[in-house]
Amino acid sequence: MYQLSSSVTWKKLQTLADKTQDDRIADYFTSDPNRFDKMSLRLGELFLDYSKNKVSDEVLKTLIALAEHSPLRQRRAQMFSGDIINITEKRPVLHTALRNRGDEPVVVNGKDVMPDIRAGLKKLEAFSHKVRSGEWKGFSGKRIRHVVNIGIGGSDLGPNMVCRALLNDKHPELSFHFISNVDGQHIKKVLSDLNPETTLFIVSTKTFSTQETLLNAKTARRWFHEKTSAQTDMSQHFVAVSTNQNAAMKFGISRENIFEFWAWVGGRYSLWSTIGLPIALSIGYDRFIELLEGAYEMDRHFVEAPLEQNMPVLMALIGIWYINFLGAETQAIIPYDQALHQLPSFLQQLDMESNGKSVDIDGHPVDFATGPIVWGQTGSNGQHAFFQLLHQGTRFVPIDFIASLAPDEKTEEHHFALLTNMLAQANAFMNGDQKSGILDFASCPGNRPSNILLLESLSPRNLGALIALYEHKVFVQGAIWNINSFDQWGVQLGKRLATEISRNIELKSSDYDPSTQGLMDIVREHMHSKNTAQQPTSAAKAKKSAKLEAAPTTGNKEP
Ligand code: F6P
Repeated sequence: MYQLSSSVTWKKLQTLADKTQDDRIADYFTSDPNRFDKMSLRLGELFLDYSKNKVSDEVLKTLIALAEHSPLRQRRAQMFSGDIINITEKRPVLHTALRNRGDEPVVVNGKDVMPDIRAGLKKLEAFSHKVRSGEWKGFSGKRIRHVVNIGIGGSDLGPNMVCRALLNDKHPELSFHFISNVDGQHIKKVLSDLNPETTLFIVSTKTFSTQETLLNAKTARRWFHEKTSAQTDMSQHFVAVSTNQNAAMKFGISRENIFEFWAWVGGRYSLWSTIGLPIALSIGYDRFIELLEGAYEMDRHFVEAPLEQNMPVLMALIGIWYINFLGAETQAIIPYDQALHQLPSFLQQLDMESNGKSVDIDGHPVDFATGPIVWGQTGSNGQHAFFQLLHQGTRFVPIDFIASLAPDEKTEEHHFALLTNMLAQANAFMNGDQKSGILDFASCPGNRPSNILLLESLSPRNLGALIALYEHKVFVQGAIWNINSFDQWGVQLGKRLATEISRNIELKSSDYDPSTQGLMDIVREHMHSKNTAQQPTSAAKAKKSAKLEAAPTTGNKEP
């Protein structure tokens, strides 16, 4: 029986946490001048410098032992081979199969799924070529110029983040819009600038049952028919990406316009599937494949590299050291790259929806911390927003800095400033500035750790590798914590209650706590007063008619 927190290795790490609590990261370099060379790794065009972490050689060695004694190796083999590791939903976890560039089969329920995956890619290739070339026309014979993805969570964050990151590769005649929030302002703003003749809607929803997405899709469909006519054929303007073909067809999307994927693809791991349709439309099918190839290279590294030279394993273990032994509650993601400004949001869902769990796969409550709060913002902006807390606050916040070495066209001077700022910040976080050796209002204590990830360039291939790196980092932590990283029961309660409350708000139901009840009453009154404001009340009607009767008959027509 795998009892993580009572294992010898876990207890040794607790001892080491006490023993090293006064260590200074900077001193590790003094005692080992080769630390940077020893604690940096290169994979293709990705470079990871993990030497500025608060880990001694002994701690790192013990962390590797923790991984060795955990279910990691077995769980990793199970994932890649299509075993059912998402046990509460009784599903395999096969986002890696979507980007499998090898010839080996991947068997699910006795069937090799690779032929279906390849067929799905072929359909994606044909469609993206038609739309990008202008061959695909709208109902009035015009080419598509606007692509609107309607989806939320994994059906939005992945494609949205990748399209934004690779904006330089975007098709010059296509504009991309992402609608996710159920707040009507979101869709209203996007639709206000669009022409239905040249707009293609992608309704992206794995289940085709998510309230926000269905409401936004219905509003888009109504907008389309109001702007054209109720009879206008929408088949050239609405496609769907879903595992639920029947629901998509019931919405009015023709079968051939449905891009399917499978239940064994988790929403937050789905951008490699047809959920990535906006990406293929934006950057083209060939570059979409480069994205998958980059991820595949990271997959091979994750499977083949020894644990002590394995990028996702090392990042995961250092994260576990901070979370479970040094008390870190959050993980900061700070891309020094404006094109990656949506990466923190994407990684929030990836990490927090995967490892925000408190029960292990055997159904027992865990007695240790699990997934961190992931947050972040681009540098150098963060330097003028929250770096003060990171430098002089009381909290221990590990940071991942991410940047690409190649500047965008004609921005060399800016890029030099960007990179030197990042290097300076990582240096300052580690070394601090305590001239007097005494912490005062002006000094920075330092000893605050960071990883530095450098990409040669922000290419589809390197971005694919970066995303897969984090997917596997999350996987490793979940495997060591022995939790299920692939279900998300916690979000079902809110969904159910939203439906229930919206139904009960009219019924003045008293099944709720006084706070919820009081708020429901306020919302109901507000809705009523808004509605009646549009239709005069009986009192208002009586007042108006009395006024009319009293008025002199002057021949002037009352306004
Ligand atoms: O947040 C819950 C969740 O189920 C995510 O896992 C998923 O990515 C999102 O909602 C959207 O789900 P769907 O793609 O089925 O609309």
